[in-house]
Amino acid sequence: MAFIDQIQSAFPASQDGIPELDRLPLVRQEEYLINGELKRWEGAFHEIVSPVCFKTDAGYVPCTIGHSPAHDRQTALAALDSALKAYDLGRGAWPTMSVAQRIKHIEDFTVRMKAKRTDVVRFIMWEIAKNREDAEKEFDRTVDYIRDTLQALKELDRQSSRFLIEQGIIGQIRRAPLGVVLCMGPYNYPLNETFATLIPALVMGNTCVFKPPKLGILLYRPLLEAFRDSLPAGVINTVYGVGEEVIPPLMETGKIDVLAFIGSARVADTLKKAHPHPHKLRSVLGLGAKNPAIILPDADLETTVSECLLGALSYNGQRCTALKIIFVHESIAADFIAKLSVKISALKTGMPWDKDVKITPLPVKNKSEYLDGLVQDAISKGAKVVNPEGGVFAKTLFFPALLFPVAPGMRVYEEEQFGPVVPVVPYSDVSTALEYVHNSHYGQQLSIFGKDPAVIAGLVDPLMNQVSRVNLNSQCQRGPDVFPFTGRKGSAEGTLSVTDALRAFSIRSLFAAKESELNKGIISEITHERKSNFISTDFIF
Ligand code: G3H
Repeated sequence: MAFIDQIQSAFPASQDGIPELDRLPLVRQEEYLINGELKRWEGAFHEIVSPVCFKTDAGYVPCTIGHSPAHDRQTALAALDSALKAYDLGRGAWPTMSVAQRIKHIEDFTVRMKAKRTDVVRFIMWEIAKNREDAEKEFDRTVDYIRDTLQALKELDRQSSRFLIEQGIIGQIRRAPLGVVLCMGPYNYPLNETFATLIPALVMGNTCVFKPPKLGILLYRPLLEAFRDSLPAGVINTVYGVGEEVIPPLMETGKIDVLAFIGSARVADTLKKAHPHPHKLRSVLGLGAKNPAIILPDADLETTVSECLLGALSYNGQRCTALKIIFVHESIAADFIAKLSVKISALKTGMPWDKDVKITPLPVKNKSEYLDGLVQDAISKGAKVVNPEGGVFAKTLFFPALLFPVAPGMRVYEEEQFGPVVPVVPYSDVSTALEYVHNSHYGQQLSIFGKDPAVIAGLVDPLMNQVSRVNLNSQCQRGPDVFPFTGRKGSAEGTLSVTDALRAFSIRSLFAAKESELNKGIISEITHERKSNFISTDFIF
């Protein structure tokens, strides 16, 4: 069978061609959460189309999997009002609650969330075509992230559960919330990366307005009741619809205190500019990246090829941390390309529920055509697709294209492809790769492959001032989640990790009093009688 026929036949002909447990009945999501109530939307709806389509004799039939509210400006503002009311200028039940109580609420949420694993995983597979293994990993990693966040907060709170006395001043330092947080995550990790900001924001006492990513909306439907039943009214509120219509009005009010956004720099810039008091806005941003791999002449080829394959093509290359350009020394370029090409050919193409599948449909509209444009541009400027069948596509399924030799002037040299195109640049002097890093607008991570400690050390020291993580003989990645995840230049603002995120969504705040008898008496009574959640020596076990 010709390869194009193989790719085409990976699409099911109808729901009947899909394992029964993975089928998805049409979901009409009418509910949205405002002020602790699941309201029913009676306005317009958006159609949600899966990247999985049906291949019929009449051609490809797009598979509509559901509908979600097309909220308007008024509804978005109502969600913000609800969050403002729950925060109530810092007087609300949630921002003044003890840390231990807030932790209990989030623990309760986690129990309810875990019960929805099957539903959420199925939606991840249908909405963004992540393969089952990775969709399950995303869910489980998120649950672990919440657990570790709560553990880290207990530890942070324990350190704050005592007074300090300095120069005759008694002080107690804790972290206090910042206000109302607007949370928006990306489509490629719709659950995990959204919760990586939402959960720390909530548990630190902020109230939130949350908008699911453009792709990856329905997967939140099973969690709405869990939010409603485990958190006080108004602490979390959901907004749906076209981002350009519903989000700028929220920013224009000047009442958003923190923008937590993972997506494009263009959108982040627009939103920040829409805020009338930029100095009052804290931003926690995860933006673009074009992480390079630098393969030195003495690199161990087996490890290098395996890590580059994973780094460039896990979830079809749709990771902000993906290796998006590979620099290889000319002395080993031919070997590297040959080995990588063989590994790419072995990648199984299919639907997200197919066993061992690696290459799945791409959810972004016209993405195959965009990637094909990058490939054709590179070919017209002297590169070749070196792997058999590379760049062959049918509708949303695009087989990875390994491009060599890639050079400046080709679009793929600069553009963040965010998909299964692997550009490889040969070099004779490592300064070619270093210049690329220096001139890049991005500064997230890079990977060095090699063996010589002196050469590696010589590269690492200056590169550490260009990117925020240098990986040795390993692909770029975000985890483990206790490690700081950030970027320099245009790649990020703020740092996320289990512990860093707690800091990103809070501010150190201090209760202080001169060490007089009167003050000591007041403080003793407050602590003994547990009159305050801030002035407190309670220790969370
Ligand atoms: O899309 C960006 C993600 O943060 C990448 O996370 O390296 O764990 O896949 P990951």
